[in-house]
Amino acid sequence: MASLPARYLIDTYLDWVATEGVPVLEDFGFDLRAVETVGWPRMGGTARGAYVHLKGRGDFVNTYVCELPPGGQTDPQRHVFEEVVYVLSGRGSTTIEADGGRRHAFEWARGSVFALPLNARYRHFNTSGREPARFASVTNLPMMLNAFHNEAFIFDNPYPFPERLGAEKHFEGEGTFIPVKPGRHQWQTNFVADLPSFKLEGWNQRGLGSANIKFILADGTMHAHMSELAVGTYKKAHRHGPDFHIFPVTGHGYSLFWSAGEPDYRRIDWEPGWLYAPPDQIFHQHFNTSSSPSRYLAVAWGSIKYPFTADKKAQFGEGSDTDISVGGRQIEYENEDPRVRAIFVDALAHEGVEVDPRLKDIWARL
Ligand SMILES: [Fe+2]
Repeated sequence: MASLPARYLIDTYLDWVATEGVPVLEDFGFDLRAVETVGWPRMGGTARGAYVHLKGRGDFVNTYVCELPPGGQTDPQRHVFEEVVYVLSGRGSTTIEADGGRRHAFEWARGSVFALPLNARYRHFNTSGREPARFASVTNLPMMLNAFHNEAFIFDNPYPFPERLGAEKHFEGEGTFIPVKPGRHQWQTNFVADLPSFKLEGWNQRGLGSANIKFILADGTMHAHMSELAVGTYKKAHRHGPDFHIFPVTGHGYSLFWSAGEPDYRRIDWEPGWLYAPPDQIFHQHFNTSSSPSRYLAVAWGSIKYPFTADKKAQFGEGSDTDISVGGRQIEYENEDPRVRAIFVDALAHEGVEVDPRLKDIWARL
């Protein structure tokens, strides 16, 4: 009797991405400025691309880099997955066309972030005639393609989601502030023109001099937030599930990573242009060694509004700034390894930056 060859352990997304005709890279972190791109048939026009898969990306999201040469553009695109776009270099514009003819256009530059409303038709343009424009997108395509395992449903689907477009002003760099409490304050919009100058809210419980905002972009389940580390400070160590993709936006510094019980730290030095993602339940801690505040954008799947997973509910609920000894996810100053402070003092001395005196006071009382 004839039998069918067994097909199992299928990952429809990984099978699909291998046919895209652009590089598919995997690493702990990337310097996205240096990722080689090639002509990208699906994005069309003069777009070039490469997929960059972070080891800590989790099961639901991917990342790609897209470069538009001077004066270049993509073909029009639409798809039933969410996408958060962070602009690495250059400047350009994006047009969004909804069913029924409603059309929006906005101009972006290095340091902008925006979301593409679900299944809205869009097109990207490089508006400079001299410089290339490069951006990176984090999307939940792996989740969607693996759920439906049908490419046409994702890329050739006429269903409109008009409620995802939001207010006109959400395409103009304006938004709505939704106050909650430190670490949970939200800004609802589709487009933030300039992350380096965006106003943040203080969140000292995550570390002296910390500030933060949670973005609700195009009413999506994709999450984005921005955090700031003041000069001469660092954030407390913490851990959570995978898929927080970290894009440094201003300043520079380093992060330490370790598994529970591990004797040594793994260190990554970062600056704008980098991308890394702490893997599942790995402790990590971010340090600012710059003489100016360091900011980073974090993008993940499962937002503070629509957290989706138990891990994200706990993270955006009380977990992120609650002591690990009482069920939270954070290591308080009094419980941190003294070596962490020694490494930081050393790193700052190397850069000629002083430890924040208020932090020294905290250390003296430990
Ligand atoms: Fe984290």
